[in-house]
Amino acid sequence: MKIFIDTANIDAIRDAAELGIIDGVTTNPSLMSREGLPFQELVEEICRIVDGPISVEVTATEHAAMVVEARRIAKMHPNIVVKLPTTRDGVRACKELSVKGVRVNMTLVFSPAQALLVAKAGAAYVSPFIGRLDDISHTGMQLVEDIVQIYDNYDFPTEVLVASVRHPVHVVEAALVGADVATLPPKVIDQLFKHPLTDIGLERFLADWRSTGQRI
Ligand code: G3P
Repeated sequence: MKIFIDTANIDAIRDAAELGIIDGVTTNPSLMSREGLPFQELVEEICRIVDGPISVEVTATEHAAMVVEARRIAKMHPNIVVKLPTTRDGVRACKELSVKGVRVNMTLVFSPAQALLVAKAGAAYVSPFIGRLDDISHTGMQLVEDIVQIYDNYDFPTEVLVASVRHPVHVVEAALVGADVATLPPKVIDQLFKHPLTDIGLERFLADWRSTGQRI
């Protein structure tokens, strides 16, 4: 499973990229708005740091305006994947852009029916938002499982990108159900490394080694 980082924060992206486990970046207008930097500058800087798919979202809501914004965004860098909301206009724009070779990530997906539509429209990625479903007492991961099954049934090439990830259990479950990608906030990436037995084990190894008085 590929791991993307879900942030527009340059320091966090640089930090994660240095770990060597980041395959791409996802952003959205809310994440961009937190950074207080001009849009183009921020996108270009992210593309300099990570050599992988970088999702950047349109803010237009009408189909023709979405296509104009999408083309503008796609021109910024060859690694850019244009993110569109899964509305009627979004799906129409997705079809129009994908037949012209623009890679599209369809976002704000909350149902298997929406996922079926975006695959038919040629989306490169579908982004089910699992945390937000959990928040309203639905099982977000069931949606991911359903999408994986539907895409397998019909050999849709659209990649399942698990979004709105809140904790490491989401990451493990996404991998178990066969998602292609999970996009993780920096905090969840940090949490993945942690295990108390690792810390205790390392402490013991080092104490035992110190007692020998040797150095490597
Ligand atoms: O990038 C979209 C998605 O991951 C947002 O997550 O935590 O705002 O539901 P969240």
